[in-house]
Order: sequence, then C-alpha cells, then structure tokens
Amino acid sequence: MTFDSFVYDALPMRVVFGAGGIGQLPEEVRRLTLRRVLVLSTPEQRDLAERAWDLLGDSAVGIFDRARMHVPTDTVAAAEESAKELGADGCVAIGGGSTIGLGKALALRQGLPILAVPTTYAGSEMTPIWGITDNARKQTGRNRSVLPRTVVYDPDLTRSLPAGISATSGLNALAHAVEALYAPDVSPVIAAMAEQGVRDLAAALPAIGKNPADPAARAAALQGAWLCGACLGATTMGLHHKLCHVLGGKLDLPHAETHSVILPHVAAFNLPAAPRARAALARALPDDDPVAALNSLTHRIGAPHRLSALRVRESDLPAVVDEVLADPYANPRPVGRAELERLLAEAL
Ligand SMILES: NC(=O)c1ccc[n+]([C@@H]2O[C@H](COP(=O)([O-])OP(=O)(O)OC[C@H]3O[C@@H](n4cnc5c(N)ncnc54)[C@H](O)[C@@H]3O)[C@@H](O)[C@H]2O)c1
Repeated sequence: MTFDSFVYDALPMRVVFGAGGIGQLPEEVRRLTLRRVLVLSTPEQRDLAERAWDLLGDSAVGIFDRARMHVPTDTVAAAEESAKELGADGCVAIGGGSTIGLGKALALRQGLPILAVPTTYAGSEMTPIWGITDNARKQTGRNRSVLPRTVVYDPDLTRSLPAGISATSGLNALAHAVEALYAPDVSPVIAAMAEQGVRDLAAALPAIGKNPADPAARAAALQGAWLCGACLGATTMGLHHKLCHVLGGKLDLPHAETHSVILPHVAAFNLPAAPRARAALARALPDDDPVAALNSLTHRIGAPHRLSALRVRESDLPAVVDEVLADPYANPRPVGRAELERLLAEAL
C-alpha cells in the first residue's frame, strides 16, 4: 500500500498495556512527577476509583465521582473546585469517554496533566479532542494540552462491561478506523493501525458476546480500541462522525448505539468511492464485502441496527439533514440532500 503524499503528525503519549496494568498506576504517576492526583470516575465506577486511590496511597488527594455523559459545565465547575481545594497537581481519569472527557476539561481549564485508565472502547484517551456541554449545546475543540500524558490499558477492567455495551462501544471504535482509512490525512502508519484495529475488534466482539469474561477476547478488543482511538486522534473524520454528532446532539441519542446503527449505512455509501479503504477492510473483516461483514457483525453481537430502535421518528430527520448539510466536512464521496435523506430513511 503506497500513498502519493501525506503528513503524519505523531501524538506524544506513553501507553502501558496488559492485564493487571492498574497495579502499575503508582509507578506511572511517579514517572509523571505527580504527587497529589485527583481520581475521577462516574458514580457507577466509584469502587474502581477507590481501588485506584488505595493503590496510589499518599500520591492521591481525593476522588471526584460525579463524571457524567457529555461533560456538563456544572460538573466541570464542581470538579475544578474540588481540584483547587485539594491542591491537585494532576488527574487519574478511570472509566469511559465521559470520565476521560471530564479529565480533558480539567486539563483545558487548569492545565492539569491527565493519566487515563480507559474501561470502554470509545477511544477518547487517544485524542486531543475535548467537549463541554452548556445549556444542551456541546462545544468541542482540538487542543494538544488535553491529550493524556500516559494511558494505562488493563483488559481486566473491561470484563465488567456488559455484553451489550461492549458491542456498541466496540462498533464505536470500529467506526473511527473505517473513517480514518478514507480520511484526507490518512498515512501508511494510520492505515496499518486502522486495519489491525478492525481485525482485532471484529474477531473479539463476537467472542465477548458469548463470554464477557473471556480474557483473550477482552485483551484483543482493548488493543483494537487503542489502535482505532489513535486513528481518531490523528485524522479528520467524515460523514459517519458528522451524522452521529448531529443525531446525538439534536435528538439526545446514546453515543455508542448511534454509531452502531449508522456505521454500515455510511460504509455502504462511502466505500465505492474509497477503494483503498475498501480493500483494507476486506482484508481485516471475515468477508470480502466489508458492508456485508459489518452488517453481519452488528447482528451477531446484538447491537441495534435501526434508528427506530433508538426512538427516532421520521419527522425528526429533516432537521438532521439540514444541520449536516449546513457545515462542510471531509468525505470521500459528495453528499447531497437526496443521498442523505435516502441514507437516513434506510437507517430508520
Ligand atoms: N473526545 C473524544 O475524542 C471522544 C471519543 C470518543 C467518545 N467520546 C465521548 O465519550 C462519551 C461516551 O463514552 P463511553 O461510550 O465510553 O461511555 P461512558 O463513559 O458514558 O460510560 C457509560 C457507562 O458505563 C460505565 N462503565 C464504563 N466502563 C465500565 C466497565 N468496564 N464496567 C462497567 N461499567 C462501565 C460508566 O461508568 C457509565 O456509567 C461521549 O460523550 C462521547 O462524546 C469522546
């Protein structure tokens, strides 16, 4: 696979991967010369935050366990206050994209370095993209200062992720790789990572569906999620991410489920215009036809495959189409109103 031209802007980050990796937290915090970290989590993952706190001993000054979906501005303000009061010099964000998103907001506003311990496949830990929601409006941006300094991937921590969430979260990760493969800024490094990420996840997700505690499948899925997240961080996403962002924001849809429904539809639309991406996906997926493989994977792992299952109604769609068309974005195939309406009607 050769590329005529490309720019590859490597994102500096230390990745520590392996079962039992949470045990390395104290050493990794020391490496960053942090002495007073604040541990962040959702209320549901408080136990895990306490485990990290126990391991960190004197290097942790507290736990803030109120991370929430979409990083609401009042949550950020409360976490900022907590960090200031405790004199925190960094954060350990342990959880999914919502918790890591809160860590990024603290990095953006207070310059606190983050160590991330992801427990889903969303991939936020690999990107310089932040998001904060104020009055139902999500503001997003790219800033290198929010990139975690260190990421500890411990597959054991994902064994508690229910099979249904594992399926949709895994498809969310896969979507990053699919769009990276036809991104305008794809490079040989990213294309190789994307292809391997798709291969890892496509093999692991059905095995996790059968046995969510399968250690080998959990390790493969998390490795795939890392690779796919790195692709998201390094390239410009296209129609799929644009559609999911608008659908999620306008209709308040669940993040990973929306990605699961939309992915096969956008792939069917875009891949005829992206032969190199199509060839990479055909190598990585267990079918020469990547769209058939994605559809079959979605069904096998029991992920939602219709927008109607997420309670979207036909009358919701025109406003979504208007918003997607209002702002230009990168895509291998031009998308007009008629194509977009057809794609969404099929997804419904
Ligand atoms: N900035 C970025 O680059 C980026 C990338 C991907 C996603 N995101 C953002 O991340 C958010 C979605 O993240 P998510 O899909 O990881 O969900 P999430 O972080 O909202 O987690 C969903 C729920 O699952 C729980 N959970 C997480 N890991 C678990 C585990 N191992 N076992 C049991 N429960 C667990 C969480 O505590 C939470 O209650 C969205 O807001 C999205 O916009 C941002």
